[in-house]
Amino acid sequence: MTDHISVSRDGPILRLGFNRPEKKNAITQAMYAALVDGLIEADRDDAVRAVVFEAKGDVFTSGNDIADFMSGAGGPGEGEKPPVIRFLEAIATAEKPLIAAVQGPAVGVGVTMLFHCDLVYASEAATFHTPFVDLALVPEAASSLLLPQIAGHQRAAEMLILGKKIDGPRAHEFGFVNEVLAPDALEDAAMGAARAIAEKAPAALKLTKKLMKGDRAAVLERMKEEGVHFAAQLQSAEFREAGMAFMQKRKPDFSKLG
Ligand code: COA
Repeated sequence: MTDHISVSRDGPILRLGFNRPEKKNAITQAMYAALVDGLIEADRDDAVRAVVFEAKGDVFTSGNDIADFMSGAGGPGEGEKPPVIRFLEAIATAEKPLIAAVQGPAVGVGVTMLFHCDLVYASEAATFHTPFVDLALVPEAASSLLLPQIAGHQRAAEMLILGKKIDGPRAHEFGFVNEVLAPDALEDAAMGAARAIAEKAPAALKLTKKLMKGDRAAVLERMKEEGVHFAAQLQSAEFREAGMAFMQKRKPDFSKLG
């Protein structure tokens, strides 16, 4: 149990909120586990018609907790399916529509989870940053497959290879943000979409999402492949340097590695 994820029901809508603003909503294993519980509940409960991801504070989420990465939490040796893996599988296979309201910067898995959402609304304050390579890591959540499909290889390379932070209008151009809104219009847009969905025929909706997502085996397979490289990189000297640099608030020096 953690109160770093807020879970609430708003009629037929399940709201899952990042609620660890003092750490910029960095996601711990307990937080992934709470998100998984919410997603399982959403798929099991016929009364839930849509799920909305949202966040407290000025950052949507700074991604996986880097201290957790450094201590090996969720990594190999913690059992076959750590909460982070279960979370990634749950968003990839969710049956109900997933809607995200991104009110501020999204980093790492905070971005890659959006590729699994059906509707993504962003405030003008939102930015999108996937600095995996800068942390000596590799993309996850099947983002190495999904982002090139959504945005094209070269644009995906700006994010996944260059590690460039992009703003809402650019993310809209890339194709993974539906609309960029004034900050005070964000919640209404996301909740309005969720309420509109909640009024629709549930079986038709479920089938439509299933058809649109198509065969999810390739996505799950890519997640597995990324996971093998990710786990190996976590053990590498280049990751140790990147992690230490983050903790010491300095730039990593990869010049003596490789
Ligand atoms: N994991 C663990 N702690 C994190 C974190 C993360 N992913 N992101 C932020 N924090 C912590 C900081 O260490 C700091 O803790 P402290 O107050 O104990 O020193 C606190 O949250 C505030 O972060 P700070 O960097 O000072 O906030 P900011 O507003 O200047 O910047 C971000 C916000 C999100 C842009 C910045 O924190 C960031 O880039 N974080 C790293 C994101 C990242 O690389 N994630 C992994 C992707 S794979």
